[in-house]
Amino acid sequence: MNNDEAYDELLHRSNGAMIVVTAHDGKHRAGCLVGFHSQAGIEPRRHAVWLSKANMTFRVALHSSHLAVHFLGADDKELARRFGEVSGDERDKFDGLDWAPGPGGAPVLAALPDRFVGHRVAMFDAAGDHACFILAPEQAELSADAPEAETRPLRVAQLDDLVPGHEVEERPVPADVNDPSG
Ligand SMILES: Cc1cc2nc3c(=O)[nH]c(=O)nc-3n(C[C@H](O)[C@H](O)[C@H](O)COP(=O)(O)O)c2cc1C
Repeated sequence: MNNDEAYDELLHRSNGAMIVVTAHDGKHRAGCLVGFHSQAGIEPRRHAVWLSKANMTFRVALHSSHLAVHFLGADDKELARRFGEVSGDERDKFDGLDWAPGPGGAPVLAALPDRFVGHRVAMFDAAGDHACFILAPEQAELSADAPEAETRPLRVAQLDDLVPGHEVEERPVPADVNDPSG
């Protein structure tokens, strides 16, 4: 096993929890399934979300002040499929879903009540295929009842059969995330 394979296996074994990240830039609505995310600060609270430069959600997030982060439960595989296998470049994945604008217009999905909307406080590009958005949680909400242990959370190993709407290699040109004009 080479270094990359060993790293991939380490991450596979850690089996991270999945989220759906949504954004609105004033014109376009977007959202995608995300596995690369984590808490990134305690005081003040910060959360890091990594978006693929190939995704419509990345392009919309570049011009959004806020992102909504929805935590998926084990029963939410169909929503994971909708946000992870379809690109907003092809069709409106919000069609038929109940949602409302949250802070900064970020679309808040009624079907996913464990969530927060975060104000974007920083962003950086590590010169790879994903860019990092650092969020300050502004509006955090919990479902009325804590889900049963066996229904939370939806983990990446449960999504082995999903085919991403955009593969990372698809990004047209390396986007310069430091250029606000996109
Ligand atoms: C298991 C799984 C994990 C994913 N993790 C991420 C991720 O961490 N960040 C990301 O930007 N896209 C991730 N994706 C890919 C996007 O969810 C997918 O390409 C989506 O269709 C993009 O939609 P968009 O073009 O409307 O933004 C993941 C997809 C799958 C199936």
